[in-house]
Amino acid sequence: MNNGIKSDLVNRRFALGLFFSLLVVVAVFLAVLFDEASTTSVAPLPPIDAPYRNSVLSDDVRIADLLSRMTLGEKLGQMALVEKNSVGNLEDVKEYGIGGVLSGAGGKPRDNTPMGWLDMVAQFTDRLLSTRLGIPLLYGTDANHGNGNVPGATLFPHFIGLGAANDPALTERVAHATAVESSAMGIRWHYSPTLDLPMDIRWGRVYETFSDDPKRVGPLAAAYIRGLRNSTSEARASIDVLATAKHFVGLGSMAWGTSANADFKIDQGVVPNDDPAVLRSVYLPPYRAALEAGALSVMAGLASWGDEDIARNRYLLTDVLKNELKFSGFVVSDWYGVYENSVDRYEATVTGINAGVDMVMLPYDYKSFISDMKIAVANGDISLSRVDDAVRRILVAKFAMGLFDEQPTRPDISIVGSLEHRALARSAVQKSLVLLKNSNHLLPVSKDVRHVRVAGSAANNVGMQTGAWTVEWQGIDGNWLAGATSILAGIRSSVGNSTKVEYQQSGNFSEKGLADVGIAIVGEKPYAEGWGDSEQPRLSDADITAIGNLRKASRMVVVLIVSGRPLIITNLLPSWDAAVAVWLPGSEGQGVADVVFGNAPFSGTLPLPWPRTIEQLPMTFEGRSHDGSAALFPRGFGLRE
Ligand code: BGC
Repeated sequence: MNNGIKSDLVNRRFALGLFFSLLVVVAVFLAVLFDEASTTSVAPLPPIDAPYRNSVLSDDVRIADLLSRMTLGEKLGQMALVEKNSVGNLEDVKEYGIGGVLSGAGGKPRDNTPMGWLDMVAQFTDRLLSTRLGIPLLYGTDANHGNGNVPGATLFPHFIGLGAANDPALTERVAHATAVESSAMGIRWHYSPTLDLPMDIRWGRVYETFSDDPKRVGPLAAAYIRGLRNSTSEARASIDVLATAKHFVGLGSMAWGTSANADFKIDQGVVPNDDPAVLRSVYLPPYRAALEAGALSVMAGLASWGDEDIARNRYLLTDVLKNELKFSGFVVSDWYGVYENSVDRYEATVTGINAGVDMVMLPYDYKSFISDMKIAVANGDISLSRVDDAVRRILVAKFAMGLFDEQPTRPDISIVGSLEHRALARSAVQKSLVLLKNSNHLLPVSKDVRHVRVAGSAANNVGMQTGAWTVEWQGIDGNWLAGATSILAGIRSSVGNSTKVEYQQSGNFSEKGLADVGIAIVGEKPYAEGWGDSEQPRLSDADITAIGNLRKASRMVVVLIVSGRPLIITNLLPSWDAAVAVWLPGSEGQGVADVVFGNAPFSGTLPLPWPRTIEQLPMTFEGRSHDGSAALFPRGFGLRE
């Protein structure tokens, strides 16, 4: 063979080789691309005695078996968390093998009753049971002060009140009752507790936190997580409601004016302190406590750490959380968090997943997510081993909860808003009040006082007591929540028969003469997230006027502050005889009256410093003001009488 023929042959062989290699690549690409989630037709049905179905085997063995049976499509479905109203066709959850569905705040069924919820959630969860592998779906929601999604549920104090009570055993019981009420409606995943440390009261999410002190947050968060576990039966070892420790990490330290959202000021802003030493000494300890207590999901915060979005930060999510803290559960991103600041969906998906997000709270477009993921795997932009790791972590939580082994039962919804839970909420309210000022021992007021006058916007306003995340994301101002007790109603039922109680929101009383005591109940209208960012958290002019009017109509004035955070009251305080931080107590206003009239003692302490001026912000991690001047009341302050 002459060289010419040889080289011709070599060339032809090379071309043929290239052709076949390309064919293989294209085949793999197409196989990955067209690997459907509903692979019932192609993938075999698992045998009835498949190891993953055997509850006697260890979770590790079961997970390995299940993973080995899953198609790529089935794996990618597990990584999708979809908002319930974004599910175009209910059959999609089955078709795509969706891992989780959520009700965002206000994501209620048309029939917003416990029964309505139970039916709605079951529409999703039941569908998954008849898929090829029968992997259960997680239904999640924010139930951060009781299951506030449904009218009639017991509403506990928001976390800031539990932080003031600073009682881990109480916190555990509150979490347990919350989990019992929501699992009765089929909800088995909560996006709580919040471990954020609020350094700046101008942030609209202060009340969602326990405290700005990691030493207070860690034990309370751990207690809360323990309370969510084993919520429906003491005997079961499995987790009944999956807790989410959030928002990893550093939230509460964002700098004023840095929000990436044009409507907000501080929420979704920049955590300026990306110092690894601070990360370890301040931010991580509450997470260590939460993981030790068994948290198996952690939410990546909607903020940036220095100049990088947390959901894109591999160092935080993988190196620190998964490797250093040895977190064995899964990382879920926050609402649209992977995409919030991005213009390129594909790039955002690839970066988020490679950074360590395991389940994406999309929450909208699951079809694009799944097809982007397939392309990313085919392109090698995301490795199959990263997908396997993410799915394994999600399965760790699902197996630990016992979801694979449960027999479908119809839960008892009569527990929602039960007397027992309301009694617990009432005692939580009692323990959460912080006595800030008490001239001449005015408090507690005698139950036999002859004449009480009550004023202020929060006196007869359950919506202000319960705050946001109550049926609607931003809450609902006013008296509309059946079964709840306003603080005014609590006052009326606390005093003796001979006591006259008068109420005028404005503090303008037509009758002449002075009451023995005036009780002004004032505070903030409900708000959530960045909509509550406020340049100057303060009382409204109407409330300040009402206090002034009440002052003229009463011998002494007590001011009860119903708010999600400390308000700037420095110039007002000298004219008040007594002042109490009530926080956002929830549905049981009676608990406030109990303490005001001496049926329970004052025992709460400030979970964060109460600033004198806005210039003192942000506070330091040690609870001191930014400019070194003394706060109006330091963290830990709380009079006993
Ligand atoms: C909040 C999260 C919450 C999620 C789901 C987001 O807007 O930042 O805290 O868990 O919505 O409702």
